[in-house]
Amino acid sequence: MAEIGKDIDHAKSLLQSGALVAIPTETVYGLAGNAFNPNAVAHIFEVKQRPAFDPLIAHTHSLEALSGLVTEIPDAAHKLAETCWPGPLTLLLPRKSIIPDLVTSGLDTVAVRIPKQALTLELLRQIEFPLVAPSANPFGYVSPTTAMHVNDQLGSKIDYILDGGACQIGIESTIVGFNEAHQPTIYRLGGTSKESIEKVIGPVNVNDHSSSNPKAPGMLASHYSPGKKIILGSFDELNVYSKDRTTAAITFNQPLPGIANEHSIILAPDGEVTTAAQHLFAALRQLDQPDIEVILAEQAPNHGLGLAINDRLKRAAVK
Ligand code: TXA
Ligand code: MG
Repeated sequence: MAEIGKDIDHAKSLLQSGALVAIPTETVYGLAGNAFNPNAVAHIFEVKQRPAFDPLIAHTHSLEALSGLVTEIPDAAHKLAETCWPGPLTLLLPRKSIIPDLVTSGLDTVAVRIPKQALTLELLRQIEFPLVAPSANPFGYVSPTTAMHVNDQLGSKIDYILDGGACQIGIESTIVGFNEAHQPTIYRLGGTSKESIEKVIGPVNVNDHSSSNPKAPGMLASHYSPGKKIILGSFDELNVYSKDRTTAAITFNQPLPGIANEHSIILAPDGEVTTAAQHLFAALRQLDQPDIEVILAEQAPNHGLGLAINDRLKRAAVK
């Protein structure tokens, strides 16, 4: 069991000594270490059992600090940074050599973001290095949205979890990259909706093609998986599916008939996709129980964060 608390000074001195600390962000909890310390970075890969080909996101606190990490910020990236940061958006930008190869898996871009979580933003302001932080879960499992989620799986492997309560957004940041002509592409749907990005920079492509052996990292077909059989469908499709005591359901805003109360989770009683996003990962964890064999999962409406929710459900459903 790791120590859990709100002590920024303690988190700071651990990170300065090269140790890892789990940190809250508005999206999900991250497993953080000093981005400039290759030993700390290597330790993150080891604790998560993450393959070395899957690069990390560097978290920082300001555009000034960012300019020390990247060689160039295209106009569109600058506009997005000014509008969406601090917030659930990650930008892929050409990296400076100060970033260790291990952070980027040898790629010439680095993923960067300024998170919107008061404790973590204050911590980032107080340290003189960026924090690399993947989601604080074992590789391939559901991301954590509370300090207890982190503790359940990584508690024995880290010293401290900075507790910022439940995450406000609940799914990971949206990742946007740029080609040589500075055209933007969304590589991972996430906490910043496609619509809100397009309001700032116009039309963007989404390139989130799945594969079990991705050329571009971060696009693994199977991910966010609770280790149960998951069947995805519309409410009407799931309604006709035959159910028994080992069947559970995650639905959008109404209960699925035929499912026991304790196995039935409604993500958004208010019908808002943002509410559903907040509760999605906790729901997948909650239903990861021995007496459940199948989880029926209703697709969210296809707008706003609904796209990212459906992306996570699709990947969770791949064995
Ligand atoms: O919301 C988030 O982004 C959370 C919080 C903690 O900030 N972090 C997070 O990290 O989700 P992680 O490591 O679980 O996911 C980062 C994704 C990976 O899929 C990785 O492959 C991709 O970002 N990525 C990182 N650097 C990249 C790069 N240079 N090019 C392409 N993809 C990159
Ligand atoms: Mg992750």
